[in-house]
Amino acid sequence: MVFKLLRKHMKTILVTGGSGFIGSHTCLCLLKNKYKIIVVDSNVNSSKLSLKMIKKIFDQNKEVMEEIIFHQGDIRDEKFLKKVFLKSLNNGYQIDGVIHFAGLKSVEESIKYPLMYWDNNVSGTLTLIKVMELFNCETIVFSSSATVYGSSEISPLKESFEIKPLNPYGQTKATIEYILDGIFRSSKSNLKVANLRYFNPIGAHCSGLMGEEPLNKPNNLFPYICLVAAGKYKKLNIYGNDWPTFDGTGVRDYIHVMDLAEAHFSTLKFLLSNKAQLINLNIGTGIGTSVLDLINKFSVVNDIIIPFEIVDRRPGDVASLVANNQKAISILDWKPQRDLNNMCADGWNWQKRNPNGY
Ligand code: NAD
Ligand code: WQD
Repeated sequence: MVFKLLRKHMKTILVTGGSGFIGSHTCLCLLKNKYKIIVVDSNVNSSKLSLKMIKKIFDQNKEVMEEIIFHQGDIRDEKFLKKVFLKSLNNGYQIDGVIHFAGLKSVEESIKYPLMYWDNNVSGTLTLIKVMELFNCETIVFSSSATVYGSSEISPLKESFEIKPLNPYGQTKATIEYILDGIFRSSKSNLKVANLRYFNPIGAHCSGLMGEEPLNKPNNLFPYICLVAAGKYKKLNIYGNDWPTFDGTGVRDYIHVMDLAEAHFSTLKFLLSNKAQLINLNIGTGIGTSVLDLINKFSVVNDIIIPFEIVDRRPGDVASLVANNQKAISILDWKPQRDLNNMCADGWNWQKRNPNGY
């Protein structure tokens, strides 16, 4: 009886793209905080095994876990999404909010196949919002990106800075923010929206059971460093040492994926307990790290030498992207807890234990 009563009061969250890198770590965090979750994922860029690992982590800690309801499917499929919401309702759980991770995320691929990105990211989100409206679900946390700022000369970046994305991927993120803003401003709207502009998430859960699994050759720095450390690639190419930064290599704001996951939990808690509103929040640490800094830190923490070569700048790169994270820290009950040492140790632990991914 008591158990039933508790279940009724538990919030139910739909996590789109929940099998992916950030989504799976966020699911773990939500479950730890007693949310009930429903995951929708097409697995176009992820393995279903990521969610199985969450159960393993709970078992290792001798904790009981609420079952994850998983529906494999595409968010552009309206019929499918309606069924997901309806099924939940029929089981006695109205979906209280959505964390929307589902999307394609490669800048390079988006330049080659822009239509695929507009269709998947923007059409997918439109379908999701339509179905949410149909089922009176009014809370959404959206995975936006620091890439919406383009190449700002001024760092750290504030949420109020101009949005000027430089590639189709970034344009889809900016467009989704724009659409959400337009709907929020309509007179009938009770929407609660948070656009979380992530900086550079790296690392993995400290158990080594969950992490990032790039399906193809990675473009991003940290997974590439891990694969060089694992001996899969001979060396790392550093894209330029003539940038206007303190050591000439690109500077970024790396954030531990578990800190990012916890930011989602805090954002949800904030939105669910406050009035209708739309907020844009930078989710980063506020600390700038250069490519050389990251290589050195990785080498020291894990005692592995990372051979590298300086090559030409990568087209589309910017010198520096660092968050001003004060707004997130002041609004949310959150601040980053893990440093670069943890990011390098946990990321390598995952890679070492899972040389072929999940
Ligand atoms: P990811 O590829 O690991 O996760 C995205 C998930 O969405 C995958 O599991 C994929 O299968 C799923 N998906 C994609 N399109 C779908 C669709 N139409 N229907 C259903 N599922 C679909 O990526 P991630 O790193 O976990 O990123 C999550 C979100 O955060 C993405 O929207 C990404 O653009 C955004 N983001 C990521 C980063 C980063 O550096 N990782 C930075 C900023 C923003
Ligand atoms: C970081 C730094 C490179 C690889 C990308 C997306 C962005 C966001 C996060 C989703 C840069 C340098 C990299 C390599 C290198 N994703 N580098 N050698 O470019 O900040 O952001 O991922 O939203 O949208 O654009 O991250 O990890 O690719 O690069 O020297 O092999 O490392 O030049 O300075 P980036 P990254």
